[in-house]
Amino acid sequence: MGPIDAEVVMNTRGTKLAVIGAGAVGTAVAYASLIRGVARTIALMDINTAKVEAEVLDMSHGLEFVPRTDIIGGDTMDVVADSDVVVFTAGAKQKPGQSRLELAEATIGLTRAILPKAVEAAPNAVFIMVTNPVDIVTNAALKISGLPNNQLFGSGTVLDSSRLRFLIAQHAGVAVQNVHAYIAGEHGDSEIPLWSSAAIGGVPLREWKPLPGYEPIDEEVRRRIAHEVVHAAYKIIDGKGATNYAIGLATTRIVEAVLNNEHRVLPVSTLATGFEGLDDVCLSLPSLVDRTGCAQRLDVSVDDTERAGLMASADTLRNMQKQFGL
Ligand code: LAC
Repeated sequence: MGPIDAEVVMNTRGTKLAVIGAGAVGTAVAYASLIRGVARTIALMDINTAKVEAEVLDMSHGLEFVPRTDIIGGDTMDVVADSDVVVFTAGAKQKPGQSRLELAEATIGLTRAILPKAVEAAPNAVFIMVTNPVDIVTNAALKISGLPNNQLFGSGTVLDSSRLRFLIAQHAGVAVQNVHAYIAGEHGDSEIPLWSSAAIGGVPLREWKPLPGYEPIDEEVRRRIAHEVVHAAYKIIDGKGATNYAIGLATTRIVEAVLNNEHRVLPVSTLATGFEGLDDVCLSLPSLVDRTGCAQRLDVSVDDTERAGLMASADTLRNMQKQFGL
């Protein structure tokens, strides 16, 4: 075997992640991705030149402590060129007490202005929409971009499911990694927990017997947990003005599933084609995420209460998107 050709090696570029929007969420995605060594190159884009340059400089000063990564930034789509994954976080910030759906008009306008340029810069990228209201924005983005359903999807209820698992784990006294449970539907006030398929260490939640010193996770506890999940973001926004760390980690998880071709099941927001006739709204159900993006929905079983909740969530989204001609 001859000497390794440095030219060939140098041209074998690694993966590239671009994050559009250098606000609290976009920088959290970039920072979490940097720490987890998700991509060889991380590109941060924002029209606020000073902000994006400062964020890139600040993260660059920590490169010694993370897996080998180049981090770049800029105020034009040039910096997004040829990315493998593009995370879209540009949008208005949710104000205290403001619902995600109330953000819709501002963010759809922004998406219409920015997304086509991003798709032109990175036509083969998988696009992950994070901007709220993410289900409405994802539906609009699919129509604006013309990309196939698998290539563009929303972060959906990956974060909400993580909140649900955290609370179940706390009530059960078990590591959160051993809790299997999903929030489905809208990433918002009408989301619903899929209790019927939830499990702890393989034990169906409804058959779970409390460990010594812990209370049963009964109907009332489940109701309280569901309420806490739905209202989590409002509580955090009231206290610190935005949520960012957990959505940053949740989005990084999705990016890893794409770049590492993990075939991972995640409740991302896509057109609910083929599920109970819901083919005109984007909402979250457990789906397979791999290098092609959101490859397919799982045919998850839901009980009557959950089915009714999903239909109500779809109606909420349908009524909202009608206002924007979606
Ligand atoms: C939240 C934001 C990301 O739920 O919608 O924290």
